[in-house]
Amino acid sequence: MKHDTLWWRDGIIYQIYPRSFADSNYDGIGDLPSITSKLDYLQDLGIDAIWLSPIFPSPDVDFGYDLADYTAIDPKFGTMEDFDKLLEEAHNRDIHVILDLVLNHISDQHPLFIESKISKDNPFHDWYMWHDPKPNGDPPNNWQAIFGGSGWEYDPDLDQYYYHMFYKEQPDLNWRNPDVRQALLNVFRFWLDKYVDGFRLDVFNMYFKDEALRENPPKIVLRSFDRQMHIYDNSQPEMFPLLREIQEILDQYPQSYAVGETFLADPQQTAAYCCEDKLHAAFNFDFAENRLHPKRFLDSATNWYLALPEDAWPNNFSSNHDCPRTATHYCFGEDDCRAKVAMAMLLTLKGTPFMYYGEEIGLRDIPIRMKSDVKDPTGKTFWPLYKGRDGCRAPMQWHSDINAGFSQAEPWLPVHANYPHRNVAQQLSNPQSLLNFVKKLIQIPRAEPTPQLGDFKPLIEEPHRLLNGFMQEKKYLFYSTSAVGTWNSKHHQAIGCPSSIEKIPSRRLFP
Ligand code: NOJ
Repeated sequence: MKHDTLWWRDGIIYQIYPRSFADSNYDGIGDLPSITSKLDYLQDLGIDAIWLSPIFPSPDVDFGYDLADYTAIDPKFGTMEDFDKLLEEAHNRDIHVILDLVLNHISDQHPLFIESKISKDNPFHDWYMWHDPKPNGDPPNNWQAIFGGSGWEYDPDLDQYYYHMFYKEQPDLNWRNPDVRQALLNVFRFWLDKYVDGFRLDVFNMYFKDEALRENPPKIVLRSFDRQMHIYDNSQPEMFPLLREIQEILDQYPQSYAVGETFLADPQQTAAYCCEDKLHAAFNFDFAENRLHPKRFLDSATNWYLALPEDAWPNNFSSNHDCPRTATHYCFGEDDCRAKVAMAMLLTLKGTPFMYYGEEIGLRDIPIRMKSDVKDPTGKTFWPLYKGRDGCRAPMQWHSDINAGFSQAEPWLPVHANYPHRNVAQQLSNPQSLLNFVKKLIQIPRAEPTPQLGDFKPLIEEPHRLLNGFMQEKKYLFYSTSAVGTWNSKHHQAIGCPSSIEKIPSRRLFP
């Protein structure tokens, strides 16, 4: 492993949704051995780390985010030996591995949750948020579940409610119980001892809720979850000492890393969790939600950099397994011009870029046409207003043969119909492709002072069509809604910008 650079600061982190990356045993679901078989591709792409969405045993109500064992591998993904092999082969290629830890909640099929329901004096009862009803039988307070309805589920045998921020099959853990705290901190140690390089912490700012279970104040909007101010069900001050404790564990394993998913948080709240004795980074959703307009991105980037404490390091992402893909969000039809702009911005702005699998070939979300086709339960609950997250979780497109090379069997989600012409093999052979553009962009920091390490200084405060950046006295990057280039003509040619760039008068590029 090379340690001359700080991998998580200087590198690029690539998120893999294991169900959908590649399938080696032909059950229609992706697995670990096939991820290992794609490491050469990832190395050639130039990424420095992979973040694996949950690979732990799970009944899959929330596709791995309802896990039933923190220290085992789900058989549908392979064995612990397969994981060890993946880790070893990744490290052989200088690719770090980040696991997705879901520590706010657990599956209701977890043996300890089942035990906790046996009786109020069961030793594991207090591992979850069991509470008595109000005198009239109502739930303990007005907290809602983001996936629909009350956050409280009644158990008639116990005459108590348990709390779940997500599905009722995902009871929240009681982080206030010292045994729970120790058990969950041991999960970090277990994987770090296996030489895992870091973690993505699912909704970490939900671990603690108000101890007195105070009601969230009301708010006037349409959707029931949003009809209250989420003051007491997340982001409690107890999180800060816990983050220090997590950091102390990570410090015992050189260069290990933690990035948190900050839920229901604005950039300022997100930034408050980032710095040396807290998390290495947290996700700022504001950036990913932008429409492709220079002013929006300028405001978003500036706001993010200003919010972060001095000793914090920014990160940026445009898509993940919960939101529409970058190309779906920004492109018209199959034209990748706007995807190139978005990728150039992501890969050169100050901060660690997180890429989502397939973003490099401009994967589009699959269309979800019928409620009966939906796999993600949120899509069924909120149909047709919201069709769930299946769209962005469809199989990776490797080549133009059956099922895009994802699997010989029918994939768990359909492959996008564009796969015969949008796939890795086809784009590798096309010098103008998005994939080759991304590969060249990734190489620029390797050969030059890293743009991501420079200070971000906008050249135009009120951009209309262009957003310019400035690094080390060089103009390093400009973006527009239709074109992109890098900081000088050498790199402009090197990465093969969309031709529309030439049509923009230079005084507008460099005012
Ligand atoms: C956030 C994850 O990103 C999402 O996929 C999941 O459904 C929820 N947390 C619940 O774990």
